[in-house]
Amino acid sequence: MANYPERILSISLSNHLRLPKNRQNGLGRALLGQFWGGGRACSPAVAYPTIYPPLERTPPGTGMTQAISSQWLFDIEDLDLSPAITNAVKTLSQGTIDERGAIYTKGEVVDFILELLAFKPSFWAQNGTLLEPSFGGGDFLLPIAQLIFEDYQCENRSESDFSQLLHSITSFELHALTFESTRARLITLAESNGFSKKVSTDIADAWLHRGDFLLAPIKTTFDYVIGNPPYIRQESIPDVLLREYRLRYQTIYDRADIYVPFIERSLTLLKPNGCLGFICADRWMKNRYGAPLRKFVTSRFHLRYVVDMVEADAFHADVTAYPAVIVIDREAAKSTKLAKCDCVSPKNLNAIAKRLKGKSGDSCQLESNSNQPWLLDSGPEMAIVRRLEKLHPTLEEAGCKIGIGVATGADRVFIGSFESLDVEESRKLPLAMTKDIQTGRVEWSGYGVVNPFEENGELANLDDYPRFAKYLKDREDVIRNRNVAKKNVANWYRTIDRITTSLTYVPKLLVPDIKGKAHFVYETGNLYPHHNLYYITSTEWDLRALQSVLMAWSANFFVAAYSTKMRGSFLRFQAQNLRRIRVPHWVDVCAKDREALIAASESLDFISIRDVVLRLYGITSEEAATIKF
Ligand SMILES: C[S@@+](CC[C@H](N)C(=O)[O-])C[C@H]1O[C@@H](n2cnc3c(N)ncnc32)[C@H](O)[C@@H]1O
Repeated sequence: MANYPERILSISLSNHLRLPKNRQNGLGRALLGQFWGGGRACSPAVAYPTIYPPLERTPPGTGMTQAISSQWLFDIEDLDLSPAITNAVKTLSQGTIDERGAIYTKGEVVDFILELLAFKPSFWAQNGTLLEPSFGGGDFLLPIAQLIFEDYQCENRSESDFSQLLHSITSFELHALTFESTRARLITLAESNGFSKKVSTDIADAWLHRGDFLLAPIKTTFDYVIGNPPYIRQESIPDVLLREYRLRYQTIYDRADIYVPFIERSLTLLKPNGCLGFICADRWMKNRYGAPLRKFVTSRFHLRYVVDMVEADAFHADVTAYPAVIVIDREAAKSTKLAKCDCVSPKNLNAIAKRLKGKSGDSCQLESNSNQPWLLDSGPEMAIVRRLEKLHPTLEEAGCKIGIGVATGADRVFIGSFESLDVEESRKLPLAMTKDIQTGRVEWSGYGVVNPFEENGELANLDDYPRFAKYLKDREDVIRNRNVAKKNVANWYRTIDRITTSLTYVPKLLVPDIKGKAHFVYETGNLYPHHNLYYITSTEWDLRALQSVLMAWSANFFVAAYSTKMRGSFLRFQAQNLRRIRVPHWVDVCAKDREALIAASESLDFISIRDVVLRLYGITSEEAATIKF
């Protein structure tokens, strides 16, 4: 079953219709809801479960799962993939809900996306095509099917139209039980719309494909691509399969989640006038792993709408998925309309859809062919960010260096009370940990890290340090069991990151990654940073003054613009975001301001210095009035 169009054509078309003429279907009208009108004012989500059979949720790994899996992996067996890849797909297809990234979308959100796409249920009659790449319980598929069936009936179609219907939808699902259950529901739905059992089954067989969307040989292109791709971290994908995905998809980069190649492939399959509407994690729009996908989108497509759904309950399960609704087409050089949704009530979503489709409302213009993080806010603060980006250098351009502290791979062995680490003095360093800087000043808790590196970057020779050698030997099992040791057996006692002893003795700012607000703490040059901390050193800036500049305003301001939002308004002060913070050059700060900045650092009173900092950046009073501090 490698070639889907051929399969569709081979289905018998005769004698299976038993549609009452012009029958009006109440469910269909309810599903049309307020977006399409013509029906009861009842919510689609309310009407829909009463007709569809309940979704079976047999625990994965039961006998039933096994039986269906071996019987159903039809595509995979035909794809000329290595047995290792075939087995990996089979394993994934039997995974738990978490392993398969199965999060199902609420009906209100499905309706919202259909509205944004200006979805026309009659598309099938013009040889239109729709793709649902991972249909799960059918939360997109079944309402769409209902709309198509309604349209089919309203137009009083003849039997010959039936073949067109079969071409209209292509959809995939990897999980055996889910596939079976949704297939059964689709057949029941078709029957409830007047199709015979045979035709209903033919429709299901033509529309639904059991297999891996990322490997399926799809030869059609689509007017609509719609859905909610799976959320699966790379760690959960078997290595051999991940390698195959990497060969096929240019956007899998760094630790990209599987939804990234789903977006790439879905976009590739769009017709020239086609349109994609997904609800999907928003992380890729700003983070590191999303860079190639951002470039892919901005070089060939148009991001039409982005609706921030982070605070909305868009899914049936209560999950933290940081979702956004995205609509992408191929219209060139257009702006992106933006909205935020806090509540998925039909009334609210309807109002948002109206705003997005209207002429007014927030929008932004993305740089084309760029992998830069998308600044998807359009308010006055974003205009200030863009102005300051042109005016001031980045931290690194202003003579600062940004790095991260040491990861050891086994803290319980490499880290301990500094005094009691029984190694030569030169083989241990006092360590700064997150808890040591909580108050805004360094309060060392007395921990230290064992240091396997000489200052020249080479590993210390154990023959030269008998106490150090014994310390390691006594803990050899744990140390050798780390990935970094397994990868390089000769260097089995190295830490994951190289330790550069001299970093201990230079003044630095220490910054924890995830925080509600900026937290930059001045460390005079006594401690080595632990891996939960980023550090900033500088050859140009006085670090006390820099601490005041960052704490008074600028770090929160820039990082909020660049960072992926976390629930509860937490910001990510990772290196990639720190590197984008702009600061004036130290030489441009007059002696009086220098003094004031340093004094604020000593008293930790950063609010008192805010006006000085705004002036240093050249913020106008009008701009200052729009900034939320
Ligand atoms: C996030 S759920 C979305 C389901 C549905 N589209 C919805 O919005 O309710 C993703 C679905 O993708 C399926 N899936 C995971 N990996 C897949 C793959 N490689 N190909 C096709 N489906 C896959 C999962 O089993 C799950 O049912």
